[in-house]
Amino acid sequence: MSYRMMMANTYLQVLCLFICSLAIINTVSSTKENVTPYLDEAYHVSKTIVKNAVSKGAVCLDGSPPAYHFEPGFGDGAQTWLVQLSGGEWCRTVEACLERSKSEFGSSNLMNSWWFTGMFSKNQSGNPEFYNWNKVFIRYCDGGGFTGDVEYVDPATKLHFRGARIFKAVMDELLEKGLKTAKSALLSGSSAGGFPAMLYCDYFRTLLPNTPRVKCMNDAGYFINAKKPFRANFTDLYTALVTLHGSAKALPKECTSKMSPELCFFPENMQQYVKTPLFIASSAYDKYQINNSIAVGINTCIGSSNCTATTNQTFLEFRSRFLNALPKPTNPKLKGVFIDSFNHHSQVQFWWSPFNITTINNLTLSKAFADWFYDRNYTYVIHEHELPISALGALAEKERKAKLKKNMRHLPKF
Ligand SMILES: *[C@@H]1O[C@H](CO)[C@@H](O)[C@H](O)[C@H]1NC(C)=O
Ligand SMILES: *[C@@H]1O[C@H](CO)[C@@H](O)[C@H](O)[C@H]1NC(C)=O
Ligand SMILES: *[C@@H]1O[C@H](CO)[C@@H](O)[C@H](O)[C@H]1NC(C)=O
Ligand SMILES: *[C@@H]1O[C@H](CO)[C@@H](O)[C@H](O)[C@H]1NC(C)=O
Ligand SMILES: *[C@@H]1O[C@H](CO)[C@@H](O)[C@H](O)[C@H]1NC(C)=O
Ligand SMILES: *[C@@H]1O[C@H](CO)[C@@H](O)[C@H](O)[C@H]1NC(C)=O
Ligand SMILES: *[C@@H]1O[C@H](CO)[C@@H](O)[C@H](O)[C@H]1NC(C)=O
Ligand SMILES: *[C@@H]1O[C@H](CO)[C@@H](O)[C@H](O)[C@H]1NC(C)=O
Repeated sequence: MSYRMMMANTYLQVLCLFICSLAIINTVSSTKENVTPYLDEAYHVSKTIVKNAVSKGAVCLDGSPPAYHFEPGFGDGAQTWLVQLSGGEWCRTVEACLERSKSEFGSSNLMNSWWFTGMFSKNQSGNPEFYNWNKVFIRYCDGGGFTGDVEYVDPATKLHFRGARIFKAVMDELLEKGLKTAKSALLSGSSAGGFPAMLYCDYFRTLLPNTPRVKCMNDAGYFINAKKPFRANFTDLYTALVTLHGSAKALPKECTSKMSPELCFFPENMQQYVKTPLFIASSAYDKYQINNSIAVGINTCIGSSNCTATTNQTFLEFRSRFLNALPKPTNPKLKGVFIDSFNHHSQVQFWWSPFNITTINNLTLSKAFADWFYDRNYTYVIHEHELPISALGALAEKERKAKLKKNMRHLPKF
């Protein structure tokens, strides 16, 4: 069943509803996931180093083997798999990649355990649809969004650009670990991990010929080609990735035969070539996207409810472009969407728990996505609220804080 919420007439009503509850924004300023374990349900999972990766040249920026975190499924989730690609921006110059290679985003030697929360929670009442799945969180250590494949290693820097090989090496290991007998499997990715989750969706499907249900999700990684008057930032970024990481060959030929490879990095240009069912979850005002495409610091006025009339006009124009860049609602079984207007970024981990959730008319992403995944209802939902909403403010601050406090505990450092 397809369905689209676009009711301009209820706009004023809803606007008032949210203005009344707008509150102070907590500025989170990076796409590198802020791994703060807030809730009781968060648990840490140690890293697994991929065994046969180095011999395939599938290595992190610094030459170390790639890694992931794995929590086995149980009960009726024992044959259902969530395979998540981590986000964390990109490095586009040798200097930036060298710097990155000295962090957990460029070397598995520097990775610790990872906190599992949100969709990764094992709490049945808080995460009823996903709590008992097999869960894999693949660490992002190549700087090129899992797309790079350059054989040459400069002896001076010793940097490796091998993201595409990492993806394949991890899949080989997961198949042996039980993925190949999955009944259902999801390849998902947040932020910089969103594009590769789309890019490798059909390949993931071919790895699982005996799995009845295979689908993919791009969470907060649907960055649009916002041309003038917006900043064409992402085109410059993608041009640099293609040059430095040798990413072009990972891109679909159907796309690169029609346009230059950097343009094929835009989900809007690539989505039509994905044949496996794909779900797109994003805010039309994704924090990372608008900071980069509209103006640095643009998020601040949303939290303070003092954006100017000109800024509001710009927001409307941006949203309209964002919605135009989405797949059309003609076949939501193949292309499901859940687009809200909250100014946040990456929902799968940090905006998922019932203590910390944003909704579109009471519909949560977790419910909408589960319905779509299990073929119960093919979600194509767009928030009718046209201006950005502070994610924290929308949650009735006092209530949210009380709930968080009740469910927080001091967790040991990892
Ligand atoms: C916006 O971008 C600037 C410059 O890249 C960065 O310093 C800042 O932290 C970003 N803010 C947010 C909210 O992402
Ligand atoms: C599990 O979730 C329920 C409902 O969301 C909550 O009341 C409970 O405290 C959670 N349990 C843990 C251990 O987090
Ligand atoms: C976008 O451009 C601004 C300024 O030109 C810069 O600070 C920012 O890092 C750029 N972001 C990306 C993703 O290229
Ligand atoms: C908006 O409000 C914030 C917080 O009250 C303040 O710091 C900022 O200067 C205001 N901005 C404008 C343009 O008035
Ligand atoms: C811009 O929109 C916000 C609601 O998103 C509102 O609080 C603010 O007053 C508007 N600014 C002007 C100048 O109308
Ligand atoms: C909950 O909301 C806060 C903002 O108050 C955010 O920083 C955090 O990542 C969210 N998620 C969890 C699991 O606490
Ligand atoms: C949303 O859900 C709450 C509690 O589940 C309920 O009280 C409220 O009436 C619902 N609102 C709408 C608009 O459905
Ligand atoms: C399908 O989802 C929409 C909201 O996305 C909801 O309004 C509708 O009632 C749902 N239909 C079923 C059969 O659950």
